[in-house]
Amino acid sequence: MSAADASTPWSAWRARRPPFQGIHLDNAAAGPSSMAVLQAVAYHARLEAETGAYVAEAAAAPVLAAGQVDIAGLLGVPVAGIAFVESATAALDTMLSAWPLRPGDRVAVTPSEWGPNLRTFRRRGLAIVDLAVDDGGLLDLDALERMLTRTPPAAVALTHVASHRGLVQPVRATAALCRAAGVPLWVDAAQAIGHVDTAVDADVLYCPGRKWLTGPRGVGILAIAERWWDALELEPPAMPPGDWPIVHALQSFEAHIAGRVGLCTAVREHLADGPACIWARLNEVGRLTRATLSGLRGWEVVAAAEDSGAISALRPTDGQDVVAVRARLLAEHGILTTAGLPVRAPGDMTGPLLRVSPQVDCSEESLVALRDALGSF
Ligand SMILES: Cc1ncc(COP(=O)(O)O)c(C=O)c1O
Repeated sequence: MSAADASTPWSAWRARRPPFQGIHLDNAAAGPSSMAVLQAVAYHARLEAETGAYVAEAAAAPVLAAGQVDIAGLLGVPVAGIAFVESATAALDTMLSAWPLRPGDRVAVTPSEWGPNLRTFRRRGLAIVDLAVDDGGLLDLDALERMLTRTPPAAVALTHVASHRGLVQPVRATAALCRAAGVPLWVDAAQAIGHVDTAVDADVLYCPGRKWLTGPRGVGILAIAERWWDALELEPPAMPPGDWPIVHALQSFEAHIAGRVGLCTAVREHLADGPACIWARLNEVGRLTRATLSGLRGWEVVAAAEDSGAISALRPTDGQDVVAVRARLLAEHGILTTAGLPVRAPGDMTGPLLRVSPQVDCSEESLVALRDALGSF
C-alpha cells in the first residue's frame, strides 16, 4: 500500500524490497532492507555455518573493506577513521571511552539533542551547557561563535537531523566555526546518514545503518577525523593484534559480521541510487507529508523549514493519547508510525508527538490513508 506505483520514479527502489504488509511511515526507526541486503546477510550467515565463522569473516574482508571506503565517503573521513560498532549508542560510548576528556569537561548541546546522548554525556562525567537556538530550534551560529571565543567547551555535540520532528541543524557551518576555534564537533548522524549530506567536516560522526540507509539492525558506525587519531586514548585490551589503523582498534571484534556485510550492500545500493537524488526526494516527501496532514482536526503539524527532510510530527490538540493512537493506526489500519515521547529530546519536546517518517517511495495515497485514519478516531 505504501509502495509507489510503477509510474513513480522510486518504484524501482520499492520493487527491490519485499512487499510491506501495510503502510510504512516509520523509517526514522528502521527502514526496509532490500532483497539484496537480506540475501547478503543470509549468505554470510550460511557461510559461517559451512566454513567456520572466522573463515567466513576472512572471506568477507574485501566486501567489508569496500563498504568502509563507501561509508568513509558518505561521512567525509578517511577510511582508516571508520569503525563498525553495534549502534549509534554504542558508537558514542566507544568514542567517549577513548576521547581525551577530564571529568567536569563541558559539552555544549542544542535543546533538540537526542535525549539518551545527554544521559551518556552525564554518565561520562561531562557537564552539559546549552547552545542558543532560534524560534525554530536551529542553532544560533553567532551565539555559538561568541561562546567558542569566550567560554569554549571541550566539545560541541549536535544531533544533525532531529529524531522527533523536521529539524536539520546547520552542521557544515557549525563545523567550520568549531574548527576555527579548535573545539571538536561530535555529530549524531543517526537520522542524517542516507537522509542529508553528512560529509560536513565534523570531528566525530556516529550512526546506525538501519534507518535511512536501510541496512540491517545491530550495525552502527563510528567515524573519527584524522586530526584526532593521535589524541585517542585506547585501553590496552581494546588494542587488536597487528598494525591496525587506530580507529579500527575501537571496532567491536565479536560482532554480527553478516549484518556488516548487509550494511555494506545497502550502502552500495544507496550510492547507486544517487545520494543527492535521495536527499532531494526526502525533502520533497517531508513537504508532501506536512501539506497532506495540515488542517487535520485534533492535530497540529509541527512547523518545519522548507528543506527539513522526511521526518514530520503531529501534535495532538484534543488531549489524545499518542501511544494509543499509534497502536490503533497499526492494529486497525496497518499504518506504522512512532509515538515520540519527550525522552527523545527533553530540551525541545513539551509532550508526546506522533512521528511520520516515509521513505523515498512515499505515495500521496499512503499519506491520505493516514489522514483519513486519524480523522476517523
Ligand atoms: C537522533 C538519534 N540518535 C541516536 C539514536 C540511537 O541510535 P541506536 O538505536 O542505533 O543506538 C537514535 C535512534 O532512533 C536517534 O534517532
